[in-house]
Amino acid sequence: MLSPLGLVFYDKRALGLEPLNRSEADSSSPWWRSAVMYQIYPRSFADGDLDGIGDLDGIRSRLGYVAQLGVDAIWLSPIYRSPMADFGYDVSDHTAVDSIFGDLRSFDRLLSEAHRQGLRVLLDWVPNHTSSQHPWFLDSRSSLSSPKREWYIWRDGHGDEPPNNWRSAFGGPAWTRDEATSQWFLHLFLREQPDLNWGNAEVVAAMHDVLRFWLDRGVDGFRADVVHLIGRDQLLPNQPEQRAHLDIVGSHDHPRTHVLLRGIRSVLEEYGGDRVMVGEVTLERPELLAPYYGLDDELHMVFNFGLMHVPWSAEAFGRVLDDAERALPEPGHWPCWVLSNHDQPRHRSRFSGSESRARAAALLLLSLRGTPCLYAGEELGLLDAAIPAASRVDPGGRDGSRAPIPWEATAGHGWPARPWLPLPPDPERWNAETEAADPDSTLALYKRLLALRRMAPALRLGSFQRLGSPPDTLLYERSWGADVRRVAVSFSDQLVMEVSAADGWRIEVATTSGREGLLWDGALAPSEAVILSRS
Ligand code: NOJ
Repeated sequence: MLSPLGLVFYDKRALGLEPLNRSEADSSSPWWRSAVMYQIYPRSFADGDLDGIGDLDGIRSRLGYVAQLGVDAIWLSPIYRSPMADFGYDVSDHTAVDSIFGDLRSFDRLLSEAHRQGLRVLLDWVPNHTSSQHPWFLDSRSSLSSPKREWYIWRDGHGDEPPNNWRSAFGGPAWTRDEATSQWFLHLFLREQPDLNWGNAEVVAAMHDVLRFWLDRGVDGFRADVVHLIGRDQLLPNQPEQRAHLDIVGSHDHPRTHVLLRGIRSVLEEYGGDRVMVGEVTLERPELLAPYYGLDDELHMVFNFGLMHVPWSAEAFGRVLDDAERALPEPGHWPCWVLSNHDQPRHRSRFSGSESRARAAALLLLSLRGTPCLYAGEELGLLDAAIPAASRVDPGGRDGSRAPIPWEATAGHGWPARPWLPLPPDPERWNAETEAADPDSTLALYKRLLALRRMAPALRLGSFQRLGSPPDTLLYERSWGADVRRVAVSFSDQLVMEVSAADGWRIEVATTSGREGLLWDGALAPSEAVILSRS
């Protein structure tokens, strides 16, 4: 296959999934370190059965697009059977595909086609809670003496008051009183998502078996949903008064989780050592994330959401990068960077809708040390959809970033039936077909960035060093032996910034048009970012 840079990148990735161009750099390091992941929100990717909701056959029909983009692995948000109170994060059968998305056969077809096209596949695994419709919970709530009673967290209340002061992430108390037994069950999310009790050995074994079910089918790994919540202090102490108004999802950090993660990791290790688990740990500071890597015996990677929570400013971005370098050092701590996902507004929307800023942020993301995780549609520069009140469906108000992907320029935009949510703004302009034909499009930029990352070990695996640069700019160097790249990013919307002396660097990728291949003059246009190599 010819890359946009004219280089042969890989031949038979299908045979062993190893790109041939990757040097010894990669042979000494696990595949996921050199990978770029791509999150697919299945309801909104592509519709194969014409019901307006995306599904597995739809995803399969678009795998060529994903492979040509140049990513290495897809992560599917939950596809399991679910009443969809939290759009799949409420699982009622961990080993069945919801009929909205297809069935196990369509999953197997998707998996084998993805592998044939050189793409690994990660599933979302939701260990902290199930649906209240899961047979385990129906059994558990049926009586105090149910054999599954201890699979969930039941407590007596204090009269009409819940057992403790914990709040649910969706608002209100994290406890619901159940009429059948007058006890309360814990749910850190919706009441339709009761928390599992990982203090119970049968739960641990059952959830390990869920992993084995999918590993046996051939999946390459998992994204583990809020996995830091599973280890608990069995006494469930109150939150301190000053935090009592906050849910504990952003602060819960108990040593028992690490014991459980080691058990989970050992299940993955049963499969030859190349299956990966990326954990969602929503603790605020990277030094709190570091312990979740264990001694290379817990999570392989932990998402770093720092860039999702900062404004468009060099100072704020620089702080996130510096904090990560300090808190997640080599060896053993490989960051996993994210700019957008299904829980937050898309980054272009966050950055005031600016296309230039979104492009510069993409260049930065794809030139960091760590595995980048893209959210489907960001490569098209999509904005969040405006969702009229009557069309809102998510209890967490996150519909805007979950809008369907516009594939084509013409009416319908690749959605054969009216899609379940409105499309993002201006789909005639912002769609895969139009952008594929435009060398200056955001899609073309992502392809160039991904191709360069594949080619340059410095960008995939090299060290990261911040270099001095004027206010409103960032400058850093990535190097792997003799392979060196520099990255310069301007956060100024108005001024041309003199970043460094022009001393023998050539522009390899630029977010503005007409500059690639030129010697760098040391200056950046407003909100421009460049990757440089020695001329
Ligand atoms: C985190 C997921 O990303 C989010 O979408 C979900 O609502 C919660 N976990 C609960 O599963």
